[in-house]
Amino acid sequence: MSLLRRIDKGSGNNSGGGDSGGRGSDGTGNLGGGGESEESKLAAMRQRRQALAEQQRPGAAGKSNNYLDLKTRVQNKLLSELDHQAMDVSRKNEVRTHIEELFNAILADESIVISRAERLSLFESIVAEILGFGPLEILLADDSITEIMVNGPKNIFIEQKGNITRANVAFENDEHVLRILDRIVAPLGRRIDESSPLVDARLPDGSRVNAVIRPISLVGPTITIRKFSKKPLTIDDLIRFGSMTKEIADFLRACIISRLNTIVAGGTGSGKTTLLNVLSGFIPNDERIITVENAAELQLRQEHVVTLETRPPNIEGKGQISIQDLVVNCLRMRPDRIVVGECRGGEALDMLQAMNTGHDGSLTTCHSNTPRDTISRLEVMCLMAGMDLPVRAIREQIASAVDMICQQNRLRDGSRKIEKITEVQGMEGEIITMSDIFEFEQTGIEGGKIIGRIRPTGLRPKFIERIEEAGIHLPPSVFGIGRSY
Ligand SMILES: Nc1ncnc2c1ncn2[C@@H]1O[C@H](COP(=O)(O)OP(=O)(O)OP(=O)(O)O)[C@@H](O)[C@H]1O
Ligand SMILES: [Mg+2]
Repeated sequence: MSLLRRIDKGSGNNSGGGDSGGRGSDGTGNLGGGGESEESKLAAMRQRRQALAEQQRPGAAGKSNNYLDLKTRVQNKLLSELDHQAMDVSRKNEVRTHIEELFNAILADESIVISRAERLSLFESIVAEILGFGPLEILLADDSITEIMVNGPKNIFIEQKGNITRANVAFENDEHVLRILDRIVAPLGRRIDESSPLVDARLPDGSRVNAVIRPISLVGPTITIRKFSKKPLTIDDLIRFGSMTKEIADFLRACIISRLNTIVAGGTGSGKTTLLNVLSGFIPNDERIITVENAAELQLRQEHVVTLETRPPNIEGKGQISIQDLVVNCLRMRPDRIVVGECRGGEALDMLQAMNTGHDGSLTTCHSNTPRDTISRLEVMCLMAGMDLPVRAIREQIASAVDMICQQNRLRDGSRKIEKITEVQGMEGEIITMSDIFEFEQTGIEGGKIIGRIRPTGLRPKFIERIEEAGIHLPPSVFGIGRSY
């Protein structure tokens, strides 16, 4: 087994398969102490040497002067040297220093003359291959990049400040992407191969990863990484970015404190989770909060928080813990508030029931484009629970459970804004009645940027009584009453 392979697998498991049930889920992929037999180490070294000899055959790649060849050549040589030494790769700094020494020696040995900048970049990319996530490493280290999208080995896109552009890094081929992918998922005890070509995973820093490979993806291995922000966006950031105003922030704070059941709705990547995190931050410190998510993304500051995360089925298709299982379970955990990362299916019915049975002040998100769509989505999701409930009963549940929908959107210029805040009022006949309290109004476009602001519609929500009961007084001007716009 090569050093690369051993780094990936960790010391406890050196079988060729992708999955290891007993592997820790800290995502570090560390090589701890012992575990790998001397025999298999020797076999691995032999294999590596054979592979090297193959590569160094006359006519084989290695004579070209281009950067990639140089990188591969130096990298292979480094790996063969490293193979002779017992390395504890969990001590990244030491290994890095060691690699640096060998790297310098190889360049000197081969009389390779390159500029200082090239040398540094070559060294960093080799370290990234040996210890990190290859070409993705540099993108992961850049805090200004919020999303990384790999569409096959040569097409990598990134999102920065809401704009999507092509990154100037690439993998060598499909194999290279798969190797890095394996390094991401293997430490989590997951695998990705032809028989299971979709996987959700997380990087050690908490970033959310989704990968799809052939035969499902026709463009080669596809990876989507939503980077975990070390410093989550705060309410002040959202005001500064123009996603909402100070008045909206005060209004939302009042709604959360007075325990209104809230749904954050929006399209993909529109900022739902970010807004959910900010809203959850308004929950008073003395309340017990239970969060339920597919991949833990919420970062709450309160002390009394329990974080629950779903689990996918294992290789035999067993052991799955769904959002629905967790919502049902958390009702037995004496929650003051339930925060569900996203409702996508039958769990919506359990969530509505929780909201209707004393767990008010609960929050969740839902993929939809308008508040009316959100209601339809909720109906469909409740039907997915398979309880055979009549639509009218489901509507009644929705109308009495949900108090407010915050509609978030990613606009054409890449900015994210609250587009509407809508009150769910009740039922009239068969229809759920709603009333928009705030609405974004676009006034123009300047230099490609959308100009406008979220304004009150002039309607006071009916739930204002609950806000007042909670001892919060919002001046009528917040709702545009007695004020001209
Ligand atoms: N108001 C905002 N202004 C600027 N950037 C934002 C804003 N809200 C979120 N973002 C950024 O947009 C990206 C997507 O945000 P987020 O994860 O909250 O979206 P989402 O709607 O939950 O996405 P998904 O549908 O994939 O779950 C993140 O990088 C986040 O930092
Ligand atoms: Mg989200």
